[in-house]
Amino acid sequence: MRILVINGPNINMLGIRERQIYGQQTYAELLTFIQTCAAELQLEVDCYQSNHEGALLDRIQEALGKYDGIVINPAAYTHTSIAILDTLKAVDIPAVEVHLSAVGQREQFRQVSYAGMACRKSITGKGFQGYQEALQFLKELLIKPK
Ligand code: DQA
Repeated sequence: MRILVINGPNINMLGIRERQIYGQQTYAELLTFIQTCAAELQLEVDCYQSNHEGALLDRIQEALGKYDGIVINPAAYTHTSIAILDTLKAVDIPAVEVHLSAVGQREQFRQVSYAGMACRKSITGKGFQGYQEALQFLKELLIKPK
């Protein structure tokens, strides 16, 4: 099973940006964490990060026929991008949305998730662990489609 993990803008700034919200660990550490989880779950995982909306759309489109599942943290584009929603719908690859922070308990403008409307599940406020749960969920879903 091949899973694509996509992270949006400023996720590459982990460990530097708003550490009281996103923690001390870096993006490099997140990549290591995800690959450790992937090995434990026996999943083949590729990770991609971009600050550019169009680049994220291109990567989602290119996933068609190559990946069985998508884990996506669209970051700020979560709350603005109908294009990411449309692209996730277009490829129709089972997707799970992850947010490091508890977006539901933050500002009003973070209460809408367009991408989430095309996802099977949303995991928020669990830090790195959210990515592990998303991979686990996709594995179970793909073994036994619901
Ligand atoms: C985030 C939450 C978003 O609202 C924010 O814009 C981010 C990160 C999260 O992982 O908690 O950049 O997606």
